[in-house]
Amino acid sequence: MVYQATVSAPVNIACIKYWGKRDTKLILPTNSSLSVTLDQDHLRSTTTSRADPSFTKDRLWLNGVEEEIKPNSRTATCITEMKRLRANLEAKNPNEPKLSQFHVHIASKNNFPTAAGLASSASGFAALVKSLATLYQLPSTPSELSLIARQGSGSACRSLFGGFVAWEMGSSPDGSDSLAIEVASREHWPEMHALICVVSDDKKGTSSTSGMQRTVETSALLQYRIKHVVPERMKLVSEAIKTRDFNTFAKITMQDSNQFHAVALDTEPPIFYMNDVSRAIISLVVEYNRVSVDAGGPIKAAYTYDAGPNAVIYTLKENAKEIIELIVKYFPQANQFRDPFGLFGENGVQGKVVDGFNTTVVKPFGIGAVKELIHTQVGDGPRVLATE
Ligand code: DP6
Repeated sequence: MVYQATVSAPVNIACIKYWGKRDTKLILPTNSSLSVTLDQDHLRSTTTSRADPSFTKDRLWLNGVEEEIKPNSRTATCITEMKRLRANLEAKNPNEPKLSQFHVHIASKNNFPTAAGLASSASGFAALVKSLATLYQLPSTPSELSLIARQGSGSACRSLFGGFVAWEMGSSPDGSDSLAIEVASREHWPEMHALICVVSDDKKGTSSTSGMQRTVETSALLQYRIKHVVPERMKLVSEAIKTRDFNTFAKITMQDSNQFHAVALDTEPPIFYMNDVSRAIISLVVEYNRVSVDAGGPIKAAYTYDAGPNAVIYTLKENAKEIIELIVKYFPQANQFRDPFGLFGENGVQGKVVDGFNTTVVKPFGIGAVKELIHTQVGDGPRVLATE
């Protein structure tokens, strides 16, 4: 008998940022957050878990390389928690094979190169938890699984759902109410597209985990954000998603990215995640929106940045072509991009500005400033690919 399950899980990018923990072991955040799940057809982690009585210890391979599972590490915690859920199920159903007593072998790979500079911990831990849940045939809901993925990496809890997802911070000290819920499905707003501008694949810098703790310890601005800013923004952005109000969604997304980078700067010593190219992309989006708004139109694009210099630009499908042409105009290397939506012909994308665009407001950068441009859209939650 073979006990094995393979699943894939998506990446998510927050519009309201998680930054700060009130409990570092259970990974309980200091504020709620909200994200968009991105399409797994483009970016995903795929994980196979196998349980076997002959295995002598739990083992993990990431992109083909074995990683030690250290005792009490986040990976060890997720595996232990999943085995506990399986043991509960076995206690209720004595005929079930005692998989909770077998060791597991877990192999995970990302389809995006680490060079894409994208955080893989969210899709990675979501895939790990979902693959074990499938292997163990647990009846758990995505929210229940999010409680465990959260202990792998906070943002991973949001990758258990597709569409638009909130991580409710909760208030219980044991973390039982700090979980992800669906705000709206992907089908509710499939026109939501995302452009990832890979500015740097440099892994150096301050990790999210250590950076956010330093912010909690030293930033007065973070306390203001937690109490007076995030709760209102969570409501407004959820409402904007529910009513498909891109204008409000975009405004809040940009404000929240800005405030997250402001609290990083307010940390001692200060943390800088964005660089000159990141800031040039901000000017480009701001100017693009200005042209539209001045003509009586809506905001058409929203930038957001995580703990690194890469930009994610949210936009509606109808504006994607225009923005890609604009990016390629300023960052020529970006034109070597895959065109998954078939927007451009054989000659590929040509750089172009929209009418009325003030070309002097964006600092010109040479070839290679944006190394890669990935065009994707809102996607679904984890997928079960195979079971044996
Ligand atoms: C800026 O989830 O990577 O991307 O919980 O310590 O693993 P840990 O941190 P992580 O932090 C993500 C921070 C962020 C914002 C976000 O995704 O909400």
